[in-house]
Amino acid sequence: MIPNLLRVEKNEDSTVSRLHIQKEMQNENKEKGEPALSANKPHISVRNLNVYLSKNHILKNVSLDIPDKAITCIIGPSGCGKTTLLKTFNRLLQNSTDVKIEGEVLVDGENIHGSKVEVENIRKKMGLLSQRPCPLPMSIYDNIAYGPRIHGIRRKKTLNIIVEKYLKEAGLWDEVKDRLKSPANSLSIGQQQRLCMARGLAVKPEIILGDEATSALDPISSKKIEELFVKLRDQYSIVLVTHTLRQARRIADYVIFMYLGEVVEAGPASEIFSNPKEKLTKEYLDGYFS
Ligand SMILES: Nc1ncnc2c1ncn2[C@@H]1O[C@H](COP(=O)(O)OP(=O)(O)OP(=O)(O)O)[C@@H](O)[C@H]1O
Ligand SMILES: [Mg+2]
Repeated sequence: MIPNLLRVEKNEDSTVSRLHIQKEMQNENKEKGEPALSANKPHISVRNLNVYLSKNHILKNVSLDIPDKAITCIIGPSGCGKTTLLKTFNRLLQNSTDVKIEGEVLVDGENIHGSKVEVENIRKKMGLLSQRPCPLPMSIYDNIAYGPRIHGIRRKKTLNIIVEKYLKEAGLWDEVKDRLKSPANSLSIGQQQRLCMARGLAVKPEIILGDEATSALDPISSKKIEELFVKLRDQYSIVLVTHTLRQARRIADYVIFMYLGEVVEAGPASEIFSNPKEKLTKEYLDGYFS
């Protein structure tokens, strides 16, 4: 299946000719069996990825591009391989036993499953927001200062500035500024998730990965996290696994639809939602299965 990550930029005079050129390139790539190019340069590129867990073939010949500085939502029914795909982006699958990975995951053009690659360098580029927030067992302040301290920042004044900056960025500052020394687990679950977001941002990642990052939250907290993703989309490449089609419709720039370990269809959200090319995508979007 060939993902089409073509973005139409309507404001430019040369749209028509640009589109024409891009379509030509797409056709050419199609013939070569490669994914189509995105107008946004890809930040992560997956090529012919096959993943086997305990001898089960979980991801099947996945090839796709994750565009730079945009929100890409991965959707599909339970068990189709969304989490597994996300884990290949920061080599988290390495922690599982009996895993076999074939193919390539290129981040900034580098195959992260190559033998010479340092896992720490890859993970530094990425922040991961999981379903349940997992603050470190320390104060609100120390949760944010933890990463910068590891990277050698010691001056209290600098750390204070960093803590304030990222708590503000995550929309939490006003709620916690008077109790920075309180334990992080004294926060509500929604606040803890924003704290985890702030902690991730404080180490300056380029990519934010989220696996059902709002599914354990109440509607108001969920909305706040969603708004954060939207606010951050110009600065980071954001990849979100979501069960909630409505969420994907609200915030996705690009969508990847998976089924039984394969990418069925991928492309700009506007195209996938309004005019899916594959019957299976249409049936999923129409709620025939979930
Ligand atoms: N360690 C493992 N050994 C064998 N099979 C596994 C292992 N981990 C996951 N799987 C299987 O891989 C498939 C994909 O799982 P994955 O967690 O990626 O799905 P998902 O799309 O994220 O589902 P959900 O929406 O329920 O979170 C499932 O069938 C799952 O049972
Ligand atoms: Mg999952």
